[in-house]
Amino acid sequence: MNIALIGYGKMGHEIEKIALDRGHKIVAIIDVNNVADFDSPAFKSADVAIEFSTPDSAINNYRKCFEANVPVVAGTTGWLEHMDEVKKACAKQGKTFFYASNYSLGVNIFFTMNKYLAKIMNNYSDYDVKMEEIHHIHKLDAPSGTAITLAEDLIKEVDRKERWNLEVEEKKTDVAIHCIREGEVPGIHEVIYESEVDVISIKHESKNRKGLALGAVIAAEFTNGKKGFLGMNDMLNF
Ligand SMILES: NC(=O)c1ccc[n+]([C@@H]2O[C@H](COP(=O)([O-])OP(=O)(O)OC[C@H]3O[C@@H](n4cnc5c(N)ncnc54)[C@H](O)[C@@H]3O)[C@@H](O)[C@H]2O)c1
Repeated sequence: MNIALIGYGKMGHEIEKIALDRGHKIVAIIDVNNVADFDSPAFKSADVAIEFSTPDSAINNYRKCFEANVPVVAGTTGWLEHMDEVKKACAKQGKTFFYASNYSLGVNIFFTMNKYLAKIMNNYSDYDVKMEEIHHIHKLDAPSGTAITLAEDLIKEVDRKERWNLEVEEKKTDVAIHCIREGEVPGIHEVIYESEVDVISIKHESKNRKGLALGAVIAAEFTNGKKGFLGMNDMLNF
């Protein structure tokens, strides 16, 4: 496929390597200093754009892709207040948009484990639940998009929890998410249930960014010939 990269930082570089390894061609690379290239023939020749930029720039980049009729695989987190606009563009204008808060296969297995455990724990009110996520110091948003997905999935299953909250459990119905930023940690997420007698926790730790980048390239391949709003549930069979 002809792939355009939007955002050429840590993820953009990792995705480039994997896309080339899988036989794709990188036809355009857009970063903060050459956004005018959205209007270039090279960008318009892309079969798909893979976007990993910044929370503030993501929605404008998606609008540019829609204008150029280039399908998007979106990895940036921290822009979800614009989700309705994106979903409308897919439903009403036939655009293609794939979003995952986390593209790694391992994390998506972990998402499934989280939902299953939450279903069980719904019946055991002696346990309170909290979450912790650790990322590198350059990360701009908190909690991470992955932590928000985990919290929202959990809240759907555990009736005694109503919302997530950054750092503190103001009410018993809150799930507190403790966010730590240290060193170059690629990403650690833990969901912790605790009663007076024991602790049950599930944890995922990324060792590097390869799994994330591979998942994004596979998602780009998956968009080929498809329309509408897509996600990991459409792509994975579990
Ligand atoms: N969904 C996932 O699986 C996943 C995985 C890792 C990272 N992320 C998210 O992806 C985003 C990027 O992560 P990263 O680690 O590559 O960050 P990074 O800081 O290394 O790279 C971001 C790049 O975007 C560029 N940029 C800034 N403004 C831009 C603009 N207007 N247009 C195009 N590019 C612009 C920056 O110059 C930089 O090169 C973050 O939001 C991060 O949280 C998501």
